[in-house]
Amino acid sequence: MIKDTINKIFQKSKGILAADESSKTIIKRLTALGLDGNEKKITEYRNILFGTSDLNKFISGVILYKDTLEKQQINGVNVPDFLISKNIIPGIKVDGGLESFNGSDIESYTKGLDKLKEDYERYYKLGARFSKWRSVFSISTKNNNPTDDLIEKNTNDLADYAKISQESGLLPFIEPEILRDGDHNIKETREVFERVFKSLFEKLAEKNVDFDSLILKTSFVVSGSMLPEDAPEIVQKETVEIFNKYIPEKMGGIVFLSGGLTPEQSFSYLNAVIKEAKKEEFLTPISFSYSRALQNNTMSHWSKDTEKILETQEVFSKDLKKASEALE
Ligand code: G3H
Repeated sequence: MIKDTINKIFQKSKGILAADESSKTIIKRLTALGLDGNEKKITEYRNILFGTSDLNKFISGVILYKDTLEKQQINGVNVPDFLISKNIIPGIKVDGGLESFNGSDIESYTKGLDKLKEDYERYYKLGARFSKWRSVFSISTKNNNPTDDLIEKNTNDLADYAKISQESGLLPFIEPEILRDGDHNIKETREVFERVFKSLFEKLAEKNVDFDSLILKTSFVVSGSMLPEDAPEIVQKETVEIFNKYIPEKMGGIVFLSGGLTPEQSFSYLNAVIKEAKKEEFLTPISFSYSRALQNNTMSHWSKDTEKILETQEVFSKDLKKASEALE
């Protein structure tokens, strides 16, 4: 069953739309564009995305926020049922968001592991077939972040989450997001990837998580956001080297997050990594699972005139097509 979900997700030229921003995050994004940040507006906006006529040409799965999975309707139909009717698999963000780690104002761990199991049955009944858990790692060479303690905590929790999700019949997406914020160079980013991936794959193996029923959702290996943009050739080399070193042969798949990169960077890095992976005969399927890279232009267009729904959907469609073409 989980294997079936993997095959459907990694269909040719298709990727994942991450529409699982927490209410707090999406309200921040809408209000930054001068829109009202209320539930009605959020529903209206997300229904524009889900209702885009050629969504299923480019998208095989959508990650939903709990409220969207459980309560939201589109044209009188529950959102997960609507997506299923379009051959799109609904997924669910199951983590409970971030909390300060040991009182730090830089490092955070992810809440929600204690109550996780009990909710899965409901998510499954509602149609969700995959789930996602995000942990974050900030890089600060000055402050020695991420600390070994945080890496230990977050990778341990990611592995526990993956096991629970597999036992509940939902394909887990483990997302150890290594943040771009800062002035660290690409070599320093690479060192953090090495530490996080080493610990993560050790924990997954210790807890007997099935690698062939598991998706890694990862950042690209790039320089900090305060440094000039990296050439795709550098990103592809650093990223695929990391994959070759740490990803087990039988891994179900890998998807990228966009992490605040522009849509153009997110598409060109994806394409570069895919080409390099092919050259290196790295066989794990690779795709995208973007939120901002797919939504930023769309949300910004909609904010200028919220009556122009079809026009907004055309903007969305264009970026979906570009992401899909990057997989070629
Ligand atoms: O958890 C983060 C989302 O799933 C991906 O978002 O593409 O904006 O980084 P992003």
